Amino acid sequence: MIEASKEPLSIINGVSFTAYEGEFISIVGPSGSGKTTLLHCLFGLTQVSKGTVEIMNTEITKLNLEKKAKMRQTMIGFIFQEYNLLSALPAIENVLIPLRLAKKKIDYEKVNQVLDNLTFTASKQAFVHTLSGGERQKLAIARVLLSENKLVFADEPTGALDSQSRELVFEQLKSLTKMGICVIMVTHDIELAAQTDRTYVLKDGRVVTSLLSPTSTEIFKLLNEKEAG
Ligand SMILES: Nc1ncnc2c1ncn2[C@@H]1O[C@H](COP(=O)(O)OP(=O)(O)OP(=O)(O)O)[C@@H](O)[C@H]1O
Ligand SMILES: [Mg+2]
Repeated sequence: MIEASKEPLSIINGVSFTAYEGEFISIVGPSGSGKTTLLHCLFGLTQVSKGTVEIMNTEITKLNLEKKAKMRQTMIGFIFQEYNLLSALPAIENVLIPLRLAKKKIDYEKVNQVLDNLTFTASKQAFVHTLSGGERQKLAIARVLLSENKLVFADEPTGALDSQSRELVFEQLKSLTKMGICVIMVTHDIELAAQTDRTYVLKDGRVVTSLLSPTSTEIFKLLNEKEAG
């Protein structure tokens, strides 16, 4: 459940899971089933009215706003469904935001490499409003890839991409897990979900099932299954 104004709004209920270091988790479910809300609850952006979220031995749900922000900044990367880029800044500056906030030294060679790997071909000085959806999505992904967080949430990170870029992005996220980073990805892409370690199927704010090393046929079947009762 989440708090919306004074009345708690029941969107997510009875969801419980543990994610491990280096694990690639996917969350699938129909539009409106609560996938984004779940990620926002885990990230501490949305207040849960019941239950807890513990990340690396810290209960994020109990932290004050300042500590939550610090934790997000230092440990968690989030690729937002709507990208969350600042339109007043050029493309490259959007990518550098977390590094600047953390006062980290900027390795421009690495920044260029990450953008090249994602086949970001637009001008790095272009303002966000002049970029296509796919180009914006690549910036949002590059920003997280450069931040070196221990945990990454990705909300439909391939939603705006062509099939080639979709593969590239998926490989980049997978490479994070090989470095011990845990990636939790919401997706409508069954083929990609089938390449993750574990898939949770969410319907009406509830996890209806979890699948270890799922196949696309299994996921498809569960997504299209009518609820019993
Ligand atoms: N702050 C809010 N106030 C009221 N309703 C909300 C709020 N946030 C989400 N909802 C509702 O909760 C439900 C789940 O929304 P959510 O964005 O989590 O779905 P989703 O599974 O991510 O969908 P999609 O696949 O379309 O991105 C929707 O019916 C949405 O309208
Ligand atoms: Mg969503």
